[in-house]
Amino acid sequence: MRPKTGLPKRKALRNMPVYEYGFKDNPNNQDIAHPNTMGQKHHSGFSVMSMFSGCGGLDLGFLGGFRYLGDEYKILPFNIVKAIDIDERAIQTYNLNISQHGEVGDLTIIDPFELPKAKILIGGFPCQDFSSSGPKVGFAGERGQLYLSMINYMKAHKPDIVIGENVPHLATLHKGKYLKQILADIKDSGYNSIVWELFAPLYGLSQSRKRLIIVAVREDLGFPPEAPKPKFLSGYLPIEHAIADLENVTDEAITNQSQYFVATKATSGGGQGDHTNRRGELAYCIRANAKARIQFHYSLDRRLTVRECARLQSFPDEFVFPFAAMSNMTQIGNAVPPILAHAIASEIANYIEMLERGEKILNSKYTQNDFEQLSFFQTAQQTR
Ligand SMILES: C[S@@+](CC[C@H](N)C(=O)[O-])C[C@H]1O[C@@H](n2cnc3c(N)ncnc32)[C@H](O)[C@@H]1O
Repeated sequence: MRPKTGLPKRKALRNMPVYEYGFKDNPNNQDIAHPNTMGQKHHSGFSVMSMFSGCGGLDLGFLGGFRYLGDEYKILPFNIVKAIDIDERAIQTYNLNISQHGEVGDLTIIDPFELPKAKILIGGFPCQDFSSSGPKVGFAGERGQLYLSMINYMKAHKPDIVIGENVPHLATLHKGKYLKQILADIKDSGYNSIVWELFAPLYGLSQSRKRLIIVAVREDLGFPPEAPKPKFLSGYLPIEHAIADLENVTDEAITNQSQYFVATKATSGGGQGDHTNRRGELAYCIRANAKARIQFHYSLDRRLTVRECARLQSFPDEFVFPFAAMSNMTQIGNAVPPILAHAIASEIANYIEMLERGEKILNSKYTQNDFEQLSFFQTAQQTR
């Protein structure tokens, strides 16, 4: 509930984004774009089936071939063969920006045998029922069992590697009972798995965001790889690194920059209310629910714009969100930051190339029973 403060009621500005084309057709990035985004195939790319694809943050990271804040994220050897999500708008955003392989569908009823066979399966299965900001109902919730669609695909097609993404709360909810069940189901499907807890600022994000990545490798192939090496151990990039240049942009000179919700001041609320970001620090975690924990600019008297949230999630500026603010914010907040996804995908590409050379990891330093004790569930960095 929003505290009664006498502040103006929030409402979405009617501004709609102005754009000619999405990321895939933008002439500015044709020099570095992945062949998939141009309707072609990477000649030596590994096939990827994408589930719960949303607007495509995880998928863009897997493909690579984009720039973010002047840095280039190289093309990776993957081809996405199909991407499915139940949300029609998310798929429209996906197909506008990434490629036409996005399809609307309910994964709880799709027969996995009707989906294409791929070497890799990726999916950020819905997390609201596990999230610390959600109802915490776990498997009892409608969305708590959606991971089973991934398990069913694994049983049907036996992909080599599976990457599942979720919130860190999944590991602690009911003392880890849900995560243990998921890992047990993965084991029963014939896979070894490991859980990486990744703090996104260590990979260059200016936002406090932590995610669990479940990596499963088919048993005959050995054990999963270790997490990608952090690049920013000596200091994080603060919020202004990502959005300072947008301070004076009030129009659509950069798409989605004129889109935000009206409310001039942040309310204080002991962690539950609205948050004003602070210069020199990481932004608060960008959430899918635009009504919860509203984020305000660190120096301007307004909320963050859709583009600023997209920047804080590391979407390139050419990636267009074509809807009204609420819908765009949901897609952005749901996404895996593309630069984090790129770090994950680079590690997976190295690992598959190692497998292709006939090498395998025969022993993992972790076993299934270690998950409760693993220090990575209690890392020192706090999410805000
Ligand atoms: C956490 S988001 C995934 C975000 C995505 N990985 C990204 O990086 O942009 C979860 C997605 O699952 C989708 N979803 C929920 N239930 C679904 C279902 N039954 N079938 C297909 N997709 C579903 C939601 O619409 C949402 O886009």
